[in-house]
Amino acid sequence: MTDGETRAIRGRLLTFLRAPEGASDSASYRYIDDGIVLVKDGRIEAAAPAAELMSRLPASIPVDRHADALILPGFIDTHIHFPQTQVIASYGAQLLEWLEKYTFVEEQRFADPAHAARIAEFFLDELTRNGTTTALAYCSAHPDSADALFTAAGPRRMGIIAGNAIMNRNGPAALLEPARDAIAASRQLIGLWHGKGRLRYAVTPRFAITSTGEQLAAAGALLEEFPSVLMQTHLAENHEEIAAVGRLFPGDPSYTAVYARFGLLGPRSLLGHCIHLDDTEIALLADSRSVAVFCPTSNLFIGSGLFNYQRLAKAGVRIALATDVGGGTSYSMLRTAAEAYKVMQLQSQTLPALVAFDLMTRGNAAALGLDGEIGAIAAGRFADLVVLDARATPAMAHRMEVARGLEDELFVLMTMGDDRAVRQTYIAGRPALPA
Ligand code: GUN
Ligand code: ZN
Repeated sequence: MTDGETRAIRGRLLTFLRAPEGASDSASYRYIDDGIVLVKDGRIEAAAPAAELMSRLPASIPVDRHADALILPGFIDTHIHFPQTQVIASYGAQLLEWLEKYTFVEEQRFADPAHAARIAEFFLDELTRNGTTTALAYCSAHPDSADALFTAAGPRRMGIIAGNAIMNRNGPAALLEPARDAIAASRQLIGLWHGKGRLRYAVTPRFAITSTGEQLAAAGALLEEFPSVLMQTHLAENHEEIAAVGRLFPGDPSYTAVYARFGLLGPRSLLGHCIHLDDTEIALLADSRSVAVFCPTSNLFIGSGLFNYQRLAKAGVRIALATDVGGGTSYSMLRTAAEAYKVMQLQSQTLPALVAFDLMTRGNAAALGLDGEIGAIAAGRFADLVVLDARATPAMAHRMEVARGLEDELFVLMTMGDDRAVRQTYIAGRPALPA
């Protein structure tokens, strides 16, 4: 990305250095009260106190000033469905009924490339409005839907990782038909898009219910063939789902063991939900360095259950945070963090704001294996930034009158904030929202 553009972005800078241990681990982050991010060719050239950098800046460089706002690395969403922008807020069903009644119906509309192209633009606009600069996204079963998303993301220079959902059973024929040669289509999409600019491919077997063992094995082989491609699927979200997997794979000791048998676990694998797991399954995830993706708004909305963060973390499982739109109810990672906090409170656990903001930025970047590229305000990383205003609404401003420092401000942002708190989103150094 050598567009020659240079820009300075000034405000209060916050970036995480490692996972915080507890609610006030000040060694886990770097905070600069009046800082400048210097951007060149889409990447961060330097990030330092304004007093240090200002004297070195040529007068011709534009400086975007965000007085009082917090500038963080752009949010990263590790599980979201691009064809579900009009499934969001579908009433009154738990997972399997929700899939059949709403989701599979809606996803059939993505057979039409014009529809997919229109929704792709909406989807990326909505991520941007919410400060999300990278997402790991499911497309529909149609390979063209992945094409549509990558085509829309390219000129925006967004870090999109996506794959067409692979399905060959237990769904409507119209979704299985385009997936018949899903593996060949996936291989073709990898060739076309993986590593093109900031775009990457993820092998996407929807879940064990909608693929035969043969298709899961082929997905596993593809993952092995392409060592930088990611894998995304769903795991142990709902009790009926788990029972169905037991019936479909009677020889396997558990749902997780099915994925393990087909080579679908590993450090490049992100498994959505991971709610109802036994100890042996948790050990399989931990030992394989797979990532369990916590999707709180979805888990509450579909009524799937409570993600046991502490149990998984203690067992050494890598954890990421995600919206899961349209089972999830908000594109906002701030809303997502608020619901994660509540899910944990219901289990007598807690989620410090520092941990939540680390997860949404550095942690999710590490979960995607992209921590050298994104997730931090540091020289060499892409200049993906979100500018947050903790006084965005009257109620937030009112609460901020009594804020007790940075951690409290972050907690206000995650508890009360949403897209209204996002003042600007920079993608590869460029402001992506109207000033
Ligand atoms: N399991 C299989 N497909 C889906 C999906 O689209 N959303 C959710 N939440 N769970 C799934
Ligand atoms: Zn999902």
